[in-house]
Amino acid sequence: MDQTDPATLPEKIPTHIAIIMDGNGRWALARGLPRMAGHRAGTENLRRIIEACIEFGIQYLTLYAFSTENWGRPLEEVQGLMGILENVIDRELQQLYDQGVQLRHIGRLDRLKPALRRKVLYAVDYTRNNDRLILNVAFNYGGRDEIVCAVQRLIQDGVKAEEVTDQLISRYLFTAGVPDPDLIIRTSGELRGSNFLIWQGAYSEWYFTPTYWPDFDKEELRKALFEYSRRERRYGGVISKDKGPSSHAG
Ligand code: FPP
Repeated sequence: MDQTDPATLPEKIPTHIAIIMDGNGRWALARGLPRMAGHRAGTENLRRIIEACIEFGIQYLTLYAFSTENWGRPLEEVQGLMGILENVIDRELQQLYDQGVQLRHIGRLDRLKPALRRKVLYAVDYTRNNDRLILNVAFNYGGRDEIVCAVQRLIQDGVKAEEVTDQLISRYLFTAGVPDPDLIIRTSGELRGSNFLIWQGAYSEWYFTPTYWPDFDKEELRKALFEYSRRERRYGGVISKDKGPSSHAG
């Protein structure tokens, strides 16, 4: 297969890709621009990547847009990121709808201003019948916080200790009903998970690239897909030539 041809795709395409969109600040700094210019360029890029995901037949895309730790950034930047979310909903919702995107939110809405909270809920409701691409926006999201929230709700629901299973916990997470990510991409050269999908990513393949998020284009995504297609997923088992994965070895 000629991988240098931009029209070529690998046969094995992940169902669910999750992305840590890192490097906006450094992208801006390298150009002598304020950090928010990096976030705006990152948002522009998002549009291109959503289109590419639809074209490539990816069914679920999860984006880490604002973490529970991001509240610690300067107020101006926190407000700027909230403003970006609001603008995306105000300006892009109809286009996302027309593209067949179903928007979902993962994380807690409680710390957001009521007007923004209402906008997010409206966008989720407006697109709920779309199914071309399920787009999970992780906003005020943290993997540990998600597990804490799930445990609290399990207890509130009176679930008994012996009823707690792997599958039940998954149903209590913000991502209930969404298959675990096959591939998690982190841009900008950082090699950490940063509290992103820590339960769901237990067996995900990771792809790291030094490219800053605003420059991570369709071609870079295609490269990541080829890299993913070469990986052998073992889920803690071994690949036996005639039987597929088995659980005899880690
Ligand atoms: C990490 O780069 C990026 C973020 C914390 C924000 C990501 C948000 C967007 C791309 C906007 C999209 C928003 C929505 C609502 C969908 P960084 O600022 O940590 O970069 P640095 O490590 O180079 O400083």
